[in-house]
Amino acid sequence: MPRPRTARARRIAAVCLAAVLPACLPSCSGGGSPDPTAGAAGLGDRLFPRAGNGGYDVTHYGLDLSYDPGSGRLAGTAVVSATATQDLTRLNLDLAGMTVARVSVDGRTARTSRAGTELTVRPASPLHRGARFAVTVAYGGVPRLLTDPDGSHEGWFRTDDGALALGEPVGSMAWFPGNDHPSDKAAFDLTVSVPAGLTAVSGGELASTRTAGGRTSFHWRSTAPVATYLVTAGIGHYTVTRSRTPGGVPLLKAVDPRAADAATTAALGRLPEILDWETARFGPYPFGSSGAIVDHLPRGSVGYALETQNRPVFPGDGDGPAVDVTSLVHELAHQWFGDSVTPRSWQDMWLNEGFATYAEWLWQQHDTGVPLSRSAAGAFADPATWSFPPAAPPTAADVSAPPVYARGALVLYELHQALGGTVFDRLLRGWSAARSHGNASTADFTAYCARFTGRDLTPLFATWLYGSARPARL
Ligand code: TRP
Ligand code: ZN
Repeated sequence: MPRPRTARARRIAAVCLAAVLPACLPSCSGGGSPDPTAGAAGLGDRLFPRAGNGGYDVTHYGLDLSYDPGSGRLAGTAVVSATATQDLTRLNLDLAGMTVARVSVDGRTARTSRAGTELTVRPASPLHRGARFAVTVAYGGVPRLLTDPDGSHEGWFRTDDGALALGEPVGSMAWFPGNDHPSDKAAFDLTVSVPAGLTAVSGGELASTRTAGGRTSFHWRSTAPVATYLVTAGIGHYTVTRSRTPGGVPLLKAVDPRAADAATTAALGRLPEILDWETARFGPYPFGSSGAIVDHLPRGSVGYALETQNRPVFPGDGDGPAVDVTSLVHELAHQWFGDSVTPRSWQDMWLNEGFATYAEWLWQQHDTGVPLSRSAAGAFADPATWSFPPAAPPTAADVSAPPVYARGALVLYELHQALGGTVFDRLLRGWSAARSHGNASTADFTAYCARFTGRDLTPLFATWLYGSARPARL
């Protein structure tokens, strides 16, 4: 059977193996540090050991930034509010590039040092376990575009009229200092000042805009916790439209006029219908608003869309339309699976991509009558599906590889077959509600399934989630 040229297939095709990040230093895993009051330089994620930092839990980010499209310079302050989870004489933030001008902790100047993507902060006096504190970082520079272990690009993309920030998995550190790991979600306020005439768009809600002295500031507020990889900023010319789904979810679409081809406009026209349909399948929409950000970038410069919180980003860098219905279904499904229920670590990525791929299959059945069984059979027949078990990507280069998407979706297909449609649909809604606005690991999911169904699903998970070999049949 010919393989459908899905949005996912296109994203994956854009990726090649390339440079791997420099090896992790022993200290960055968080273990073996001689000083018990030093916050670890990494959270020990098996695939991205240096991502995130130990010793504190961020509750809120407040970024106040100014961007100059001519020079590409971004500058301002980041206030990272956190709670110490241990006594701390020093702590780290993740930051790639940029120049740090000044750091203070609770208003008192702190000493700093930098090594690789680690910014180490030594407060004037130690922080005690349980203390709430705020680190203010004044910084600036031309943010970097980063290359991931799988050869894809993320971080800060300059566009001909501004910029676009994409942060999966570790690209947020290119433009703001933070705890760049999905396990530490926090509320977010982002204020970006741009030359008057340009627009700055992001996730959350637009709290205010203010024009003075030839510049406009856009303040975007996320009261729901957001993982750093799901924070975006788009700067440029956008046509901004507001509407609502029939079910009542407020929508904000920001579309670069150059990306508004007929097919993109038609696909975006179905956003209200898709979001309400997903709400019926997955449970109440988890955020205060939705929508999409559609930009215009050089051909082939990104190669994927991203499920940034509230409104996904479509970079408009392909030879086809910037947005197609399948990829809209996929990115919006992530609002439940990925954005609201966020992986605890990067090896749990199939909890994002398996679910979003399964949502594509469900939609195709609903919209065009392609049976679920045919989508599953297509994934089953593809040799690329079987290179590793979905719950165990072997290296950081594999987090967005086909098994995470297709085999992840097959796990759900098998659950559907085993439980029947009614129970499976209730399980999907139950899962998104149980872990709403939180984090979950693969073990959390399998435990939830066992509890919810009262059944021993160990053999199913052993075969489809953890097994190496392709089973004899679907
Ligand atoms: N997570 C994105 C999605 O599926 C896609 C994506 C982000 C991606 N970064 C990537 C795909 C890097 C391949 C390589 O919605
Ligand atoms: Zn996805």
